[in-house]
Amino acid sequence: MSQLFGPAANTIARASIIGLLALLIAGAGLGYHLVNSPYNTAVGIAVAQPVPYSHAQHVGGLGLDCRYCHTAVETSNSASIPPTEICMGCHSQVAKDSPALEAVRASQETGQPLEWVRVHDLPDYVYFNHAIHVRQGIGCENCHGRIDQMAVVAKAEPLQMAWCLDCHRDPAAYIRPRDAVTVMGYQPPVEQSVLGPQLVAEYGIETARLSDCSTCHR
Ligand code: HEC
Ligand code: HEC
Ligand code: HEC
Ligand code: HEC
Ligand code: HEC
Repeated sequence: MSQLFGPAANTIARASIIGLLALLIAGAGLGYHLVNSPYNTAVGIAVAQPVPYSHAQHVGGLGLDCRYCHTAVETSNSASIPPTEICMGCHSQVAKDSPALEAVRASQETGQPLEWVRVHDLPDYVYFNHAIHVRQGIGCENCHGRIDQMAVVAKAEPLQMAWCLDCHRDPAAYIRPRDAVTVMGYQPPVEQSVLGPQLVAEYGIETARLSDCSTCHR
């Protein structure tokens, strides 16, 4: 063989194998980087919306509770996005000629719902349910961050499997009293290391079952 290819062939072969390995390693590194980069997880990336609606103004400023608009969050899988009527409940009087509300008024007149762009969207093969989390003392803030400070909503967490599992393995580290689920900037009334296990027991949370594949993939 070495006769056929000449003395340099082995060196070339060796060099190209090393080159290929280096490429594979670089590729894997890049893949890993992409999986965890904001490009893939979209963490912190604000999404343009049809109306310049601001949570910072309505929640942080006016002090509205999340459930005023996200009415289904305690009872169903979906938190729900408010219909135009909820906005017009105030904006038929407040800032009623504002150009920023043009699309809201048009929606009211035509009956065509506003087309809000989704920010959080799990793949279809994952089962998620808001009501269960909210009823068991997991705060909006635990998953969505400081919504009350966002002029435009961006994801605060990656929503990847490892992130879900981090809490499912140890909900005591995050759980809060049920009446504090919509509180932003929450501080536990006593040490979390004391309160957490108490609430987990009181709410009857079965931590063992929470990491089963069939909990989220059904
Ligand atoms: C006055 C009504 C109103 C209130 C109050 C309100 N929201 Fe919203 N929320 C909206 C509207 C409208 C949207 C869709 C537009 C957007 O994403 O900004 C939205 C979007 C969101 C989204 C992103 C949804 C997606 O597409 O993934 C999250 C998360 C959210 N709200 C959480 C909260 C939390 C947490 C609170 C309380 C701290 C809250 N909201 C209070 C009206 C409201
Ligand atoms: C409880 C009353 C209330 C509700 C409900 C409400 N808003 Fe507002 N909104 C206000 C107030 C008060 C302001 C501040 C008005 C001002 O500064 O003149 C405001 C301001 C705004 C502005 C900025 C207007 C400007 O000219 O700067 C936009 C846009 C807006 N709201 C959109 C919405 C949308 C969309 C909804 C429904 C998802 C909604 N609001 C629901 C009370 C409300
Ligand atoms: C355990 C984490 C978690 C908690 C707690 C949580 N959310 Fe969510 N939220 C999510 C995930 C994940 C999605 C995306 C769901 C999907 O794609 O099916 C989402 C989506 C949303 C949406 C978009 C509409 C929808 O239902 O898909 C809104 C609005 C929202 N959340 C508001 C809230 C509010 C308000 C609270 C607190 C009362 C809250 N969330 C608590 C994780 C959470
Ligand atoms: C900060 C903590 C936390 C995070 C983050 C979280 N969960 Fe949960 N999850 C809980 C708690 C607590 C329960 C309630 C368990 C109980 O009542 O026994 C729960 C329950 C569930 C259930 C219902 C289990 C059942 O059958 O009763 C599903 C499904 C679920 N979570 C999916 C998810 C998914 C998917 C994600 C990530 C996108 C996620 N969760 C993120 C804490 C969390
Ligand atoms: C607490 C909820 C939860 C549990 C429990 C869970 N998964 Fe997932 N899984 C997810 C979420 C959320 C995603 C979507 C990840 C994404 O979009 O990046 C996912 C994605 C996946 C994927 C797609 C590839 C990937 O990694 O993104 C596979 C395969 C998978 N899960 C297998 C499993 C297996 C096997 C188990 C049991 C050992 C399991 N999951 C348990 C929430 C869960």
